[in-house]
Amino acid sequence: MEISKIGVVGAGQMGSGIAQVAAQAGYQVVLRDLEEGYLERALGSIRRSLGKLLEKGRIDPGAHEATLGRIQTTLRLVDLRDCDLVVEAIVEHEPTKLELFRELDSLAKPGAILASNTSSIPITRLAAATRRPERFIGMHFMNPVPLMELVEVIRGYLTSDETTRAVLEVARRMGKTPVEVNDYPGFVSNRVLLPMINEAIQCVMEGVATPEAIDQVMRLGMNHPMGPLTLADFIGLDTCLAIMEVLHRGLGDDKYRPSPLLRKMVEAGLLGRKSGRGFYRYD
Ligand code: CAA
Repeated sequence: MEISKIGVVGAGQMGSGIAQVAAQAGYQVVLRDLEEGYLERALGSIRRSLGKLLEKGRIDPGAHEATLGRIQTTLRLVDLRDCDLVVEAIVEHEPTKLELFRELDSLAKPGAILASNTSSIPITRLAAATRRPERFIGMHFMNPVPLMELVEVIRGYLTSDETTRAVLEVARRMGKTPVEVNDYPGFVSNRVLLPMINEAIQCVMEGVATPEAIDQVMRLGMNHPMGPLTLADFIGLDTCLAIMEVLHRGLGDDKYRPSPLLRKMVEAGLLGRKSGRGFYRYD
């Protein structure tokens, strides 16, 4: 299964990062979103990111321009019809993803692999919206995509070995280390990470310590690069809540119940870095 052209649907933080690492690896990339403004913003952030990598000597000047030259942007989904692999990175909302995958399935070429960057929606359920569940897989990148080494590769119930092998190879060519896991709520990354973040939020609610103190404990005491509340702001509190809800619904145990403070902050529009305020302020 030869992969040379990769489509990315959704040009947000994750989608633009995926498009960037794919283009850096030499793949032709078609990046699609719904508005020209989103695509321009994505290209801006890819340029900035490549600029940083160039500054640090991690890529050479030629690679900077060549990477940008391999990224084509579009508003039309049909422009992804000749891609060998399409990675979806749109809003974390199941009905929207299902609708997109139905459409992608009908226009992508028969051999193409469809992948989702979902952080917690079951891959098997998304795959069932298509007529190619054996060529459907989860490719869960970590934020910030250009810097983080992991790609969590999630096999759906019907994902074939051939599809898995092809996607592991793509992830490696992108300079990432893929880790294969099965399709259970939250996979591994978020099943382990989010309950820790949720517990840190519960500590704030109960007045155990300030957000700064909690983050300091985890940074200095456990050598985490970011404290859990800084990380929650970075991921987005709405995304954190959505993941906790998936864990709670899917696994049932009360230990996955979202903290009431998390819920209240999301209701108040305090979503973290992207809204300018979460546990911290970003002016
Ligand atoms: N591209 C290129 N360079 C980037 C970048 C990007 N996208 N983002 C940041 N950088 C640069 C910064 O600009 C900075 O450059 P300078 O040194 O010139 O200022 C450099 O990388 C290092 O950044 P920082 O000094 O700010 O901070 P750092 O050394 O702590 O590294 C980090 C940053 C890699 C993000 C680190 O803090 C870290 O590993 N944090 C944890 C991230 C994490 O846990 N991610 C997973 C989130 S969960 C998820 O994604 C899954 C999900 O489903 C929710």
